[in-house]
Amino acid sequence: MIQKGAHEQPVSAGGGTELFHVIGPRVCERRLLDELCDLTTRVRTVAKSRAGARFLQDLLPDRRAMFYFTQPSTRTFLSFNNACHILGIRTSEIRDPSTSSEVKGEGFEDSIRTFSSYVDVIIMRTREPGRAAQAAWLMDTIARPVPVINAGSGSDQHPTQALLDIYTLDRSFSQRGGIDGKVIGMMGDLKRGRTVRSLCYLMKNYFDVRLVFIAPEQFAMQNDVKSHLEEHGIPFTETEQLGKVLPELDALYVTRMQLEWDKADESRAVDFSRFSVGAKELGMLKPEGIIMHPLPRGPELDPAVDTDPRAMYWRQERNGMWMRAAVLLKIFRLESRIQSLDLEAFAAQDGDIPLVS
Ligand code: CP
Repeated sequence: MIQKGAHEQPVSAGGGTELFHVIGPRVCERRLLDELCDLTTRVRTVAKSRAGARFLQDLLPDRRAMFYFTQPSTRTFLSFNNACHILGIRTSEIRDPSTSSEVKGEGFEDSIRTFSSYVDVIIMRTREPGRAAQAAWLMDTIARPVPVINAGSGSDQHPTQALLDIYTLDRSFSQRGGIDGKVIGMMGDLKRGRTVRSLCYLMKNYFDVRLVFIAPEQFAMQNDVKSHLEEHGIPFTETEQLGKVLPELDALYVTRMQLEWDKADESRAVDFSRFSVGAKELGMLKPEGIIMHPLPRGPELDPAVDTDPRAMYWRQERNGMWMRAAVLLKIFRLESRIQSLDLEAFAAQDGDIPLVS
């Protein structure tokens, strides 16, 4: 039986660290997160050399991925697309449903089943929440199921963004004990921001983390997330005053106002300028603190911040490509091919290739 509209499913269907569908972050465990972060670093490192890039390209040339993106995307689409290219996976896409047989009345489930006839993984973004979960449940009922990856489901969840955010936090704090013990601020439209919602659900995996939500009252973090944090003993506070909490933060995760979800121009009533970062706020951030943003940015993130070494968002978006390659390797169970590699040997083999990471 297909459970329609099920918004929350485990990122891992198997209870261990194996991956099949990637739908939601709730059941994701530390062991899987640590393994994905390590795998991401390994893929990045291997890809630096020509020999490594060739090795990666030969891993999955027999696999095909389908992109079903009916909601706009730049980063998630391009990073997944390029992650596929890095691993030799061939890709096809529908980004505009008006070009598919949906305009002839074909239903969602028939469309998904049709995609699965041709490819080995479906990566999908939709405006409606729950569609990726619905597709995954459908797959679990058919003879040739293919994994479904949620690349953003309405204002609800964005699990692979949360994974790349974890990787970015983990790397940024690698010399300071990792994510454990850190104070992480999340600012902006927390009510409708799927990236911060998904990231919150992963925080139960880290010790002594404290969250600070900085948002206008109308766009405060929703109760489902707060209940989850309470259930797992993760302390959080809420404020509308960035200046009061900024000096204590190890990371500030800035998000934009999600105007696309307005029903009656409700965002216009809010003075959002109080929830922005510029030179003044940088002056209040710890010297070793970091600024993250899922991008695209709005007026909440002054471009002047870009040149500050604590601005992590451009690395964060590039990390998305490597993390998504790691996710695909896990889904196709090829992680051991990377884990067993002698990374130094690859580096030594092709010293002529520029080290772009
Ligand atoms: N961060 C993110 O999801 O960006 P896109 O909407 O451009 O994919």
